Amino acid sequence: MEELVDAGLVKAIGISNFNHEQIERILNKPGLKHKPANLQIECNPYLTQEKLVNYCQSKGIVVTAYSPLGSPDRPWAKPEDPSLLDDPKIKEIAAKHNKTTAQVLLRFQIQRNVIVIPKSVTPRRIVENFQVRGQEPWLGLLLPAQQGRRSFIILPSSC
Ligand SMILES: NC(=O)c1ccc[n+]([C@@H]2O[C@H](COP(=O)([O-])OP(=O)(O)OC[C@H]3O[C@@H](n4cnc5c(N)ncnc54)[C@H](OP(=O)(O)O)[C@@H]3O)[C@@H](O)[C@H]2O)c1
Repeated sequence: MEELVDAGLVKAIGISNFNHEQIERILNKPGLKHKPANLQIECNPYLTQEKLVNYCQSKGIVVTAYSPLGSPDRPWAKPEDPSLLDDPKIKEIAAKHNKTTAQVLLRFQIQRNVIVIPKSVTPRRIVENFQVRGQEPWLGLLLPAQQGRRSFIILPSSC
């Protein structure tokens, strides 16, 4: 990947689903020329990834949150799984600020300098998902009692 950066074929290197130890191994690699610019991880109020986000930000690595809405259409979701978009606390915050729950979930990440990549095939929602900017300090997001809940299982790798 570093050679691709040198050749001008890619602008920056991104990594995904790497943990703290794996990132540290890259950063400590002798002769490292181009450190990763971005880490993409599952992240939402049920899985805030606080330590990993802080670590990356302290190293100048920008974090991107995938499944920021809790990936409700994932094929392996069980009916009894808690739903971020239906979470009463998040709904309460949304109502208070006249926003949708999706917008609160996206704004939560933006306020902590985390990039969000919600997926939607619905034009109305795509527009809605962009309408999360502005100056007003929404939230204090009360974190729901579902911390550490993953929607994706990351298999160990030799990275
Ligand atoms: N790096 C990785 O390992 C990894 C793993 C998983 C996902 N990703 C990436 O992350 C991105 C998003 O993740 P994701 O699709 O798992 O989860 P997500 O964005 O949290 O959820 C997508 C679901 O939310 C619905 N939705 C979108 N906007 C909404 C809104 N405003 N109100 C209500 N529902 C809304 C979508 O419905 P409709 O489409 O029907 O509107 C879809 O069912 C994707 O681009 C994916 O490729 C990366």
